[in-house]
Amino acid sequence: GSGHGNGPSGLKFTPVAPNKLDAITVPAGYDQSVVVRWGDPVVPGAPAFDFDNQTAAAQAKQFGYNCDYVTLFPMGKDRGLLWVNHEYTDEVLMFRGYVDGNAAPLEQIRIALAAHGGSVVEIERAGKTGKWTLVTRGSRKYNRRITAQTPMRFSGPAAGSALLKTAGDPTGRNVKGMLNNCAGGTTPWGTVLTAEENFNQYFVGGNGVPEDQKANLARYGVSTTAAIPSGSRRFDRVEERFDLAKHPHEINRFGWIVEIDPFDPDSVPIKRTALGRMAHEAATTTIAKDGRLVAYMGDDSRFEYIYKFVSKDRYVPGFDRHNRGLLDEGTLYVAKLTGDSPAAEIDGTGKLPSDGAFDGSGEWIPLVSGTRSYVPGMTAEEVLVFTRVAADKVGATKMDRPEDMERNPVNGAVYLALTNNTNRTAAQLDEANPRPSNRHGHILEILESRNDAGATKFAWSLPLVAGDPADPSTYFAGFDKTKVSPISCPDNLAFDADGNLWISTDGNALGTNDGLFVMPLAGRERGFVRQFLTVPFGAETCGPMVTEDQRSVFVAVQHPGEITGATPDNPSSTWPDGDQPRPAVAVAWHKQGKKIGS
Ligand code: FEO
Ligand code: CA
Ligand code: CA
Ligand code: CA
Repeated sequence: GSGHGNGPSGLKFTPVAPNKLDAITVPAGYDQSVVVRWGDPVVPGAPAFDFDNQTAAAQAKQFGYNCDYVTLFPMGKDRGLLWVNHEYTDEVLMFRGYVDGNAAPLEQIRIALAAHGGSVVEIERAGKTGKWTLVTRGSRKYNRRITAQTPMRFSGPAAGSALLKTAGDPTGRNVKGMLNNCAGGTTPWGTVLTAEENFNQYFVGGNGVPEDQKANLARYGVSTTAAIPSGSRRFDRVEERFDLAKHPHEINRFGWIVEIDPFDPDSVPIKRTALGRMAHEAATTTIAKDGRLVAYMGDDSRFEYIYKFVSKDRYVPGFDRHNRGLLDEGTLYVAKLTGDSPAAEIDGTGKLPSDGAFDGSGEWIPLVSGTRSYVPGMTAEEVLVFTRVAADKVGATKMDRPEDMERNPVNGAVYLALTNNTNRTAAQLDEANPRPSNRHGHILEILESRNDAGATKFAWSLPLVAGDPADPSTYFAGFDKTKVSPISCPDNLAFDADGNLWISTDGNALGTNDGLFVMPLAGRERGFVRQFLTVPFGAETCGPMVTEDQRSVFVAVQHPGEITGATPDNPSSTWPDGDQPRPAVAVAWHKQGKKIGS
């Protein structure tokens, strides 16, 4: 069976139980293994990992830290390029005796810069199983490390803007590196879109910027009173550009969607300014009915917004030179959601309104189109660089931390993970964000008008309000709650070819490890959430990525062992090697080669 029509989903595995094990657990009949770990050689000639003698030069050639987004670019059935984001570094776990960025040896700061970014690694699948491994011999000509120091360029309407100019780059067109790349997406022409998320944490000196720049800085989560915010990695001790008091525009050069061509290791990554600047979680592309390219995007902070970009021109299959300009010209929209039930029925208990659903209508409000701003008092460049400020002005809907978005390949519906928002008060509820102090998050389903991703109107509902199913505020699309798995803090989403939604979690507030879940969206099993996998202690689950043939599912195990008080001399996790914890990408498969979820 498949996810089509009214039949069963075809998902038959026995869910794994919530646990706190320091291991990946998978259902009976499945197996899993590590594909690539922090420190593994990526570029030919990279030295073997040596935890106690790590260097920046070695790290720049090895797999980076805290892997997040994972995608596979096939090169035939059993070979491909794996792209992986390296979101951030946890120095407390990376270095013995680490105190803080102020005291850190400069070499440790340089290692951290090199451990950010992303990796391209060639992988292969052996025989009939779904197991993938690193290609360790041969030319590996595509293998590449991108770091916080890799030369990149800007394109689109804000490239060359005064807002992007610095002493180091008087053109406003060239930038060094990318930071905090969380999730991402791919383009139809075979490139990766990687999303710079919490870039605000890398800068100091916010107290020293010119007064007229402080409001925008604060809107992006940077302290304008502290010289050195607590917990700073002090990148400025290695590179002065991270000191805003000296280089106030440097931060405007982060917070973008970055396009990288994995098949051209010499290509210069491109920060696409037409897609706006925010704490970008990801960018998921699809094609509108008239052929225009659409990118859905969440801004992952509390009370932030949902965006989409629609290109001016159509996508033309095979016309590569044309297609590679699509992300530079188009319209950036922000979402406004209106509930259809009386406000009094959104009472904070999570109880469904009398019409039986948290649902309503929505509109995509245009913010900017090329050099034309739709926002009073802001130029197009200002809208693109300070997108949050523009969205505030047009009355967009403040959401409970918009994370990953995905479009269902079977029926075209669009899904967004809203991970949590413990700051939402009872006075701030709306039908799309109906729980106060939302600890467990929910999932939003968007049905674009006429099922056209280019539409400016949509309908929406909440098919999942997460948590312990025994909690009366939870909702599993009406499915029998005695049968579902508890789920908390949805973050990354992926679809399999049958239209089942795979959900990975970050920060499980139910007290057990994070994991990977699957939720059918069609037929009588709509809402039947089952846990497929758990990750080791202290980790969040990223990726996920189900291969097109559904024989393998990749997950990134981000920050294993990251709990308060854990250090290399007192680790809380020894995954995966029985030694220091190492963030890694893993793959799971059915031992008899069956479809994932069988
Ligand atoms: Fe880096 Fe929004 O998770
Ligand atoms: Ca309703
Ligand atoms: Ca995420
Ligand atoms: Ca997250």
